[in-house]
Amino acid sequence: MAELRNDPASDWQRATCYLNGEWTALADAKVSVLDRGFIFGDGVYEVIAVDTVDGIRAPFHAHAHFARLQRSLDAVRIDNPLQVEQWLDLTAEVIERHLWPRQLVYVQITRGVAKRDHPFPAGVAPTVFVSTSPWPAIPSEQVEQGVAAVTHVDERWLHCDIKSTSLLGNVLMKQYAIDNAASETVMLRDGFLTEGSSTNISVIKDGVISTPPKSVQILPGITVDGIAHIAQQHGVHVDVRPITASELAIADEIWLCSSGREVLAIVSLDGAVVGSGKPGPMYRTMHEWFQQAKREDARNWVAQRRARSIETRASEGVT
Ligand code: PDD
Repeated sequence: MAELRNDPASDWQRATCYLNGEWTALADAKVSVLDRGFIFGDGVYEVIAVDTVDGIRAPFHAHAHFARLQRSLDAVRIDNPLQVEQWLDLTAEVIERHLWPRQLVYVQITRGVAKRDHPFPAGVAPTVFVSTSPWPAIPSEQVEQGVAAVTHVDERWLHCDIKSTSLLGNVLMKQYAIDNAASETVMLRDGFLTEGSSTNISVIKDGVISTPPKSVQILPGITVDGIAHIAQQHGVHVDVRPITASELAIADEIWLCSSGREVLAIVSLDGAVVGSGKPGPMYRTMHEWFQQAKREDARNWVAQRRARSIETRASEGVT
């Protein structure tokens, strides 16, 4: 940490990371070419946003991320190598080891290293990797002006609810957006909205926020759940239901959201204007509520870490 100068542009290469129980320089960290993550994409991951609000640097929805990690691990039958509290300790440590006020913590677990063969290998320890990188501020232009999106048929597999490192389908869809001068690809399966290439999508009509139901077709996003929770706290109705392609065309507002992008308004879809062509009033309100919710979450994180430290000291006999 000593050599880091809080200069995200150059410092990230000197970052440190956790690999299988050891802290090592990110630039030197290596896994075997036989790692099943490399060979088969046989692994799962999480991305957790860290921001500094009211002087508190905290990861957001950390518990929810590790609950989803457990769900993904269960779905692919990899034993979770750590307890939730250990994951939270690791998250706190990787943040602490870096100076950046905004970070994206990355957690990946693969089925481990074995001779290339499709069946699960016996007696192999999972590979555990935790790193962090600077998280640039979300461009104010994107918040104020919104972003463009394009649509595409969802051609991915039917386990999109697992946060798997097998992301080729998502990568191709993100590149499709870039190739079409857009910021995101909104995917449709059988004429119904699924999600973005790396975001969840919500549609706003007549003051109601609608989001597709959780299913094997979409990732159960932490941010979209956060938005639903915030909306309900403020008395805004959230409708969880299948959304047709034609509803996208007549929406007042469309939002994308993820840990890394928070909430952004989609103001053009396939070149057609969405609503007024500017981030709408519901978006502006939600954006503000979202920032407030981050403040609350940061305070909770500090309280939880304090409780954890007291508990750890007590169990070690330190008074
Ligand atoms: N992506 N849907 C997909 C396909 C995603 O990849 C993501 C997140 C989301 C939003 O999930 P959350 O709100 O929990 O971040 C929805 C992460 C950020 C990534 O792969 O980098």
